[in-house]
Amino acid sequence: MSKTLFEVTEDHLETGMRGFPVGYCPTSSVDPEKGLYYVGRPLTEMQNASPEEMIYLLYNRKMGSKEEVAAFSKDLHKRAQCKEDTIKHIRLLPREGHPMSLFSSAILIAGMLEGVDDYREDCLNLIAKAPQIAATVINHHAGWQPCNPSKPELGYMENFAQMLNVPNANLKELTEVFRLFNILHYDHGGGNLSAFVGKTVASGLQDMYGSIASAMCALGGPRHGKANQDCLHFVEEVIEVVGKDASPEDVEAFIRKKLENKELIYGFGHAVLRVEDPRATIFYKLVQERYPDHPLVKMTKILRDVGPKVLKENPKISNPYPNVDAVSGSVLSAFGFPYPVYYTVLFGIARVVGISIQIVYERLEAREGKGTPIIRPKYLYKEM
Ligand code: MLT
Repeated sequence: MSKTLFEVTEDHLETGMRGFPVGYCPTSSVDPEKGLYYVGRPLTEMQNASPEEMIYLLYNRKMGSKEEVAAFSKDLHKRAQCKEDTIKHIRLLPREGHPMSLFSSAILIAGMLEGVDDYREDCLNLIAKAPQIAATVINHHAGWQPCNPSKPELGYMENFAQMLNVPNANLKELTEVFRLFNILHYDHGGGNLSAFVGKTVASGLQDMYGSIASAMCALGGPRHGKANQDCLHFVEEVIEVVGKDASPEDVEAFIRKKLENKELIYGFGHAVLRVEDPRATIFYKLVQERYPDHPLVKMTKILRDVGPKVLKENPKISNPYPNVDAVSGSVLSAFGFPYPVYYTVLFGIARVVGISIQIVYERLEAREGKGTPIIRPKYLYKEM
């Protein structure tokens, strides 16, 4: 007899499947009190690792030796260059849509022209190509110069930063912030919306590119990945209303007013976490050390102090603490990337890694290699 993990009652229906166990996730887990773990290791202990070391860890489920990571990186380099045709078609996409719509479409285009219909190969290929696909999308959408030639041997995020044609870029600062942002966003357990959507679509045996494109559509929603863009706009709104030199009391009054008007306070709370998101803690520390006087950073700090104080007064709020989106946009801005409309694409480049590896597990390894069946939950008929 297998043990009961969770009893479903009627009260659980229409609650977003919060907390329902539905499978296993070999890449990462989220502890409500301690935050994100990659392959059983707390992320907070690995924040200085390179993207390549972390991707190796997630893909191979063990830390690689220097030689192993070097060989793995070399393999990714060989896979990194997109076909000319792929780039050409991405650059024909309409520039009017949100960059996440372009990014999802670009992944579908890459799948049509470069997919090999093998989950493992496509996973590695897509991880390797994601920086160039994203840089092509951003340069095209922003009207910046087309990508500089891809040089994957520079490093995963080093190459991304140099391919982007950010006006007046300080490449060193950009590379540093993109590396950290990338590492912190690879994965967040098996049940976050984009991972679940990607795996759900793959359960119908859609290929890797189609499944990841769907996952990126999910990530583009404002309640999920696009929250990082919206949070930055919220911080900007606070500054606009109360002024950049406002006191904590002014900000507190602003938040209370918003709550009175039943408006959203962005950047607080999480479906799983019950403490400040450790990814946010890492960002707060870095930006406080490096750019304490940047107006967005100053306001983000005040919100970090004042937000939980006010939100805690409402007993219905299970997590009044900041999540990663509360601060990631201010960090990117302070480090020289003040383009919020592209923040979710940066999230997407990272999430391609975690989700595609989770898909490889579910399609090729789960249930002794049989793979998980097509997702097909039950909905109860109700006469309305
Ligand atoms: C994420 O990183 O995916 C978000 O924090 C959302 C989640 O974990 O559900």
